[in-house]
Amino acid sequence: MTSFTNKVVVITGGNSGIGLATAQAFAKDGAKVVIFGRDRESLRNAAETLGANASAIQGDVTKAADLDALIAHVKKTHGRIDTLFVNAGVAEFRPVDLADEAHFDKLFDINVKGAYYTVQKALPLMGQGSSIVFTTSGAQELGMAGASVYGATKAALRSFARTLSADLKDRGIRVNAVSPGPVQTPIFGRMGLSHEQIEGFSKEIAGQVPMGRVGQASEIAAAVKFLASDGAAYITGASLPVDGGMTTL
Ligand SMILES: NC(=O)c1ccc[n+]([C@@H]2O[C@H](COP(=O)([O-])OP(=O)(O)OC[C@H]3O[C@@H](n4cnc5c(N)ncnc54)[C@H](OP(=O)(O)O)[C@@H]3O)[C@@H](O)[C@H]2O)c1
Repeated sequence: MTSFTNKVVVITGGNSGIGLATAQAFAKDGAKVVIFGRDRESLRNAAETLGANASAIQGDVTKAADLDALIAHVKKTHGRIDTLFVNAGVAEFRPVDLADEAHFDKLFDINVKGAYYTVQKALPLMGQGSSIVFTTSGAQELGMAGASVYGATKAALRSFARTLSADLKDRGIRVNAVSPGPVQTPIFGRMGLSHEQIEGFSKEIAGQVPMGRVGQASEIAAAVKFLASDGAAYITGASLPVDGGMTTL
């Protein structure tokens, strides 16, 4: 696998779950990692574990000024971006009758609009040989009850991976998506469920995975590293399911 020594990797949502595990994996391989998220305390803790080559910028992907501050920091500190992991996202599940406009707007603002403008603002720092990876979800493929809005946001990202790779191919920038199945991260705790409900949900969803278990964030990180590596130099516009066979078997 490619060495990431001195490669510049920017990760939105790098202070928790999949983003943090990916930041750790890149940092371990010598990359200069910049993480971005809203919560100051977890950003500080994450940056400490990532070591001297890492930095953390606090901000919200729905705020243009915060994204500008992230890109200004990367430009000043590193001058370029080799890998952009567009990963920040929220999950909320509602049956269609209860999916009010606030739910719809929140999910599309963060998961779709935030992701799109993260890419647009990062592009001036990206050149030949760099790459972008979006985090989508198995929910974009499956007809999961309660996931009409969440699944649609992730389907939009899947579409961006295709259309942006067409836009950017002549600049030598590859764009792909990693599509996780259920993964053990703090996201379940943020859905307003009780501890018992989370346990029950995890058990139920694990039963729907052909491999019989939920995934680990490090398993998604490994796939992101592959898509960012020279080993994936001929891969663009693709979506890699990392879901224990949930959407493929
Ligand atoms: N875990 C799963 O089962 C699973 C499955 C498929 C796809 N995914 C996707 O994987 C991605 C990462 O999720 P995760 O499971 O690692 O959950 P997580 O631990 O809750 O992480 C979500 C990350 O996104 C950041 N974030 C959310 N809203 C943001 C905003 N407005 N601005 C900036 N950062 C924001 C959070 O930062 P703060 O904490 O600072 O807000 C956090 O770092 C998400 O896109 C999710 O949809 C997860």
